[in-house]
Amino acid sequence: MAEKKVVETTENEIAVHWQEEGLFYPSTKFIAQANMTDETIYDRFSLDNFPECFKEYADMLDWYKYWDTTLDTSDAPCWKWFVGGELNVSYNCIDRHLEKNRNKTAIHFVPELLEEKTEHITYQELYVRVNEFAALLRDFAGLKRGDRVTIHMPMSAELPITMLACARLGVIHSVVFGGFSGKACADRIEDSNSRVLITMDSYYRGGKLLDHKANADISCELAEEAGQKVDKVLVWERYPGKYSSKTPMVDGRDYSVNTILKDYYGKIIEPERMKAEEPLFLMYTSGTTGKPKGCQHGTGGYLSYVTGTSKYVQDIQPEDVYWCAADIGWITGHSYIVYGPLSLGASTVIYEGIPTYPDAGRCWKISQDLGVNIFHTSPTAIRALRKVGPDEPKKYDFEFKHMTTVGEPIEPEVWKWYQKEVGKGKAAIVDTYWQTETGGFLCSTLPGLKPMKPGSCGPGVPGIHPIIFDENGKELGQGAGKAGNICIQNPWPGIFQTIWGDRDRFVDTYFARYNTKPDSKDWRDWPYLTGDAAVQAEDGYFRVLGRIDDVINVSGHRLGTKEIESASLCATEVAEAAVVPVKDDIKGHVPDLYISLKPGIDITDAVAKKISDTVCDEIGKIARPRKVWLVADMPKTRSGKIMRRVLASISNEKDVGDVTTLVNPDIVKEIKQQYDNSKK
Ligand code: WT7
Repeated sequence: MAEKKVVETTENEIAVHWQEEGLFYPSTKFIAQANMTDETIYDRFSLDNFPECFKEYADMLDWYKYWDTTLDTSDAPCWKWFVGGELNVSYNCIDRHLEKNRNKTAIHFVPELLEEKTEHITYQELYVRVNEFAALLRDFAGLKRGDRVTIHMPMSAELPITMLACARLGVIHSVVFGGFSGKACADRIEDSNSRVLITMDSYYRGGKLLDHKANADISCELAEEAGQKVDKVLVWERYPGKYSSKTPMVDGRDYSVNTILKDYYGKIIEPERMKAEEPLFLMYTSGTTGKPKGCQHGTGGYLSYVTGTSKYVQDIQPEDVYWCAADIGWITGHSYIVYGPLSLGASTVIYEGIPTYPDAGRCWKISQDLGVNIFHTSPTAIRALRKVGPDEPKKYDFEFKHMTTVGEPIEPEVWKWYQKEVGKGKAAIVDTYWQTETGGFLCSTLPGLKPMKPGSCGPGVPGIHPIIFDENGKELGQGAGKAGNICIQNPWPGIFQTIWGDRDRFVDTYFARYNTKPDSKDWRDWPYLTGDAAVQAEDGYFRVLGRIDDVINVSGHRLGTKEIESASLCATEVAEAAVVPVKDDIKGHVPDLYISLKPGIDITDAVAKKISDTVCDEIGKIARPRKVWLVADMPKTRSGKIMRRVLASISNEKDVGDVTTLVNPDIVKEIKQQYDNSKK
């Protein structure tokens, strides 16, 4: 049974102070063209019609063999969707569009440098390139159905080509965010037992060509130390035919994809007929303990769910140009840059670089140049663009009919700027709440049906039935005015199937909290615990407040506090570490790192820097602490537990509250003094 957690962070205070906001309505023009304007969809997807309602999404796909069981609960809570069915994801995202849309653009790839040309890859071209690379994976790398392969690549057209080639063969891909360190990549290679790593030599970020292949060397070395040898590293070239990294290729291990690919030109690979419940990919995410969890997503359920939600929530139509400015290395990119849009036969935009290169108008320039009319991004990006370039959107000629935000709560102020300045007062907005684990959206308004409320993600999307429980499992209903643990009452096709190699952790983390009958095969006994705190307004709309566990949401992505703490312990000087979230104007939250050093080690700036760099080496720059506080001791309870709550109060400049029960209450004053001094 999972430990019953008491909410002790101040995290869930963030949004409670926001006042109830008024509603915004989609324009008649938007409604007139929307994919979903039929109110009865909510009845069709009611709990009474569960699970058969999801047939509507599965029917959006092409199946080699139709399924016989919509939901198989025999291994509860590891749900199996559309059992008996057979399909291939690459076929659904490419081949089936050829007859009518062979010459339509599937992917617009925008390089970061302004002087480089945007690539427009048609469905035909995508078909050719995916087949050729699949042939290489099969015949050169020896990969076959069920093998895992780790992909550590930047934003490029080659990344979805690689993913789709894996899907064609039934090879399970594990894409690691390009900004993660070689070490983070090694951990994922080891956990998934990948013997092939696919990478790219270099890419542009902020106007600089970064040497990315260097990470592959670190990954291979560390993975081998941990017991997983990488036999082959396949290196795509940022400039085909010209190796662009200072790091030498390792003989007999590293191979240039662009060179070897020549042997496979024109090859066609028959897509594997995959069982609906066979895994499609792993996506690692942070949890409360140190080790990232490999969320295993299935084939038929996942693709049905992202296709259905791309159609009704993203409202993608055949003539649209759709841009989700997330990174494909996160779940948002998997579901809503690659699989959902391509399954619908849409045109999807991939941008290599940062949104502020060469200036804060870049997103609006790209939108103008490509005629983007659906735009999808995170509150972090919106906050940053509002801060550095509030007047930029006005300078460009683009018109969004629809916009999305995802990843963290958005402040009503920021939402209104987005609506007025970026949406030019015309765009319908959806605030989509979901997680790596959930595969697709949990809560959002349907843009043609429901009004928008700034700062609130809206009701559950069709077929998702959220419920808020208090600590004792009592339901907090609409308008309860109290925050609780938001759970989902029912399974849905997009939910992950398990944690790779760790079913017990899967059950413990996500289902044990409110399950009272561990042997039950009835889905009603297994509410899914999101790990978020939320309140439900009178009108049924949810407002997600933040995590209840030891997870920090930085720029819309989860970092485990334990993960950062154990990374810092790799610096030999560190005795104890504690990480706390600090509110940040742009990124939502950033980590502050408190450290007590081993005896005999002097407190110096150099040590602090070394620790900060160690965290970046272990995880990636996304985890860089705002500040490393070298303290004489940690505030502790009598049982020796570090009081992170107290440290969080200091970092967030809040009252530390009652500390008299600590063994060392004086240290709190001392640390507070240290904090105040640093601000002078
Ligand atoms: C956590 C999941 C899947 C999207 C990318 C992040 C927070 C996500 C919202 C939203 C408020 C949100 C939650 C969630 N979150 N979307 N619209 N409003 N909070 O995926 O890294 O798996 O993080 O992000 O806390 O649990 P992730």
